[in-house]
Amino acid sequence: MTLIAQVTEELSRAAGLRVQTEWAPAIRAVVEKYAEGTGSQSLDAEARRFLLSEVARHVTVPETYFFRNLAQLTFCAEHAAGVLRHSGSARIWCAGAATGEEPYSLAMLLYRSLGAKLGASIEIRASDLNPEAIEKAQHALYTAWSFRGAPSWCFRFFTPEAEARLRLTHPEVRTLVSFRTESCQAAASHEPAQSLDVISFRNVAIYLEEAAIQALYIEFSRLLKPGGLLALGPSDPRPIGSDFELLGHYDHAPVFVRTQREPSLAAAPTRPAAAPRPCFRAELARRPLGTAPRSEPPPERAVEVVQALAAAAPSDTTAQRLLGLAHLERNATAEAVAALRQAVFLDPTDALSRYFYALALHENRDTARAARQLATVIDDLQLRAADDMLADGSTSALELLRSARFLRTQWQ
Ligand SMILES: C[S@@+](CC[C@H](N)C(=O)[O-])C[C@H]1O[C@@H](n2cnc3c(N)ncnc32)[C@H](O)[C@@H]1O
Repeated sequence: MTLIAQVTEELSRAAGLRVQTEWAPAIRAVVEKYAEGTGSQSLDAEARRFLLSEVARHVTVPETYFFRNLAQLTFCAEHAAGVLRHSGSARIWCAGAATGEEPYSLAMLLYRSLGAKLGASIEIRASDLNPEAIEKAQHALYTAWSFRGAPSWCFRFFTPEAEARLRLTHPEVRTLVSFRTESCQAAASHEPAQSLDVISFRNVAIYLEEAAIQALYIEFSRLLKPGGLLALGPSDPRPIGSDFELLGHYDHAPVFVRTQREPSLAAAPTRPAAAPRPCFRAELARRPLGTAPRSEPPPERAVEVVQALAAAAPSDTTAQRLLGLAHLERNATAEAVAALRQAVFLDPTDALSRYFYALALHENRDTARAARQLATVIDDLQLRAADDMLADGSTSALELLRSARFLRTQWQ
């Protein structure tokens, strides 16, 4: 078998990847470089692992952002916090964590809930096949785009750096997460049975063959404690069989519970009456979990950080929208109007920015202009497909349309 065939086989065998024809040039380039350097035409186990991650570097897309499907992450963090209170420790695994935004979001949510009590009692493991993504996660340096769906409070954990980037610098949040370059399959094989409280396996299955996805779900059922949670992406395939039961959808994304086959000490999650619906104004100020711990940086810090980001990226719509939202949250309505006006100017098609611009105008008592902006939002959204995702990555056109119509009736 040629080296190329061996590597292609390894991608499917070891990582379950659905090898795509357009990956052929990347596979060939990696293999040729390896053969040139080593003169070898066969692969031992270590070479297979190395080539697998080298190919992954070129073919997988580590697309992610902070607080993606926030309600789902909050639900999982609340479960882990409950387990910790009950049993003294909790473990989470983000499988296919890409550049780290997902595990760091969980770490921030847990820090807000538990503060100083976190210590060594919570462990968040994060792994990804792509070594470049894991290097980036370890540096924890992000542009405004990574924050497109983020709540304003999170900025207090960051420090502005050059080139309009923010680094996660809060030491207690950073140290909660450990990263490894590894396939989900290899990482699962190292974990003891019933050792995890939450597994997040979101938006990874798109890369995998159906058999590999279901094989991983079987592994996850072995690793999760009874009552433990499996979080998937909105369009990921569901687990087959009776090991998991669907608890509900949160921000469109499903959470499954590992069914209880035997009595367990783990705190079972409570089944929600109904999945929460986004509520745009309330969401701004909502504290997701518990009350803020004493060592949490103060709220003004969040505004300073996002101000620095927006100043360094004056033509970045996302940065301006984030600044507007941060001002709106602390009722600095004139500043919110200015930032959101700039966001709308930069991207007149960004319905979310315009919606919040209308809201800021209204709260700044400029009701006539607010009503005109809201009417434009409604007209625009009526032309879009209901399930069109907006710029924050989790709000659909229909959801914002409903909110905007509701606001219009409130303002009349
Ligand atoms: C779209 S990102 C999802 C990131 C994050 N979970 C989220 O939902 O925002 C998918 C990631 O899965 C990783 N991946 C794909 N197959 C994998 C496998 N078999 N083992 C580990 N990571 C894998 C890719 O490298 C990529 O970074």
